[in-house]
Amino acid sequence: MSDEAHEPKPPVDPKGRAAPGFERHVFICTNEREAGNVRGCCLHRGGGAVRDRFKAGLAERKLGGRIRPNAAGCLDFCEFGPVVVVYPEGVWYRILDLERDVDEIIERHLVGGEVVERCLLRM
Ligand code: FES
Repeated sequence: MSDEAHEPKPPVDPKGRAAPGFERHVFICTNEREAGNVRGCCLHRGGGAVRDRFKAGLAERKLGGRIRPNAAGCLDFCEFGPVVVVYPEGVWYRILDLERDVDEIIERHLVGGEVVERCLLRM
């Protein structure tokens, strides 16, 4: 008997995809630190609302299967939070205005492929 006969069948993807991966990942820091921590944290600066708005905005546009918004742990740019990074481009954003910034990043970058200069994390 061959080894193949003993290998388990791969699971079936309930979404019908033939290959793993997404066109883009949006990692949104939702890390929380204790109150008074010198670096602060994205969650206390609105990271949860940023995540929720990306998720809702992408779902509304039916882009969830192509572009994946993921809550992330600390991305190590805490002082600039809430921070977001879009891959595969590796573009970092600092969200200062929840609705305006997230909506513009979705429309111009995630849909249109254009970096939103105004929202870039600058150091
Ligand atoms: S807590 Fe968000 S980058 Fe560190």
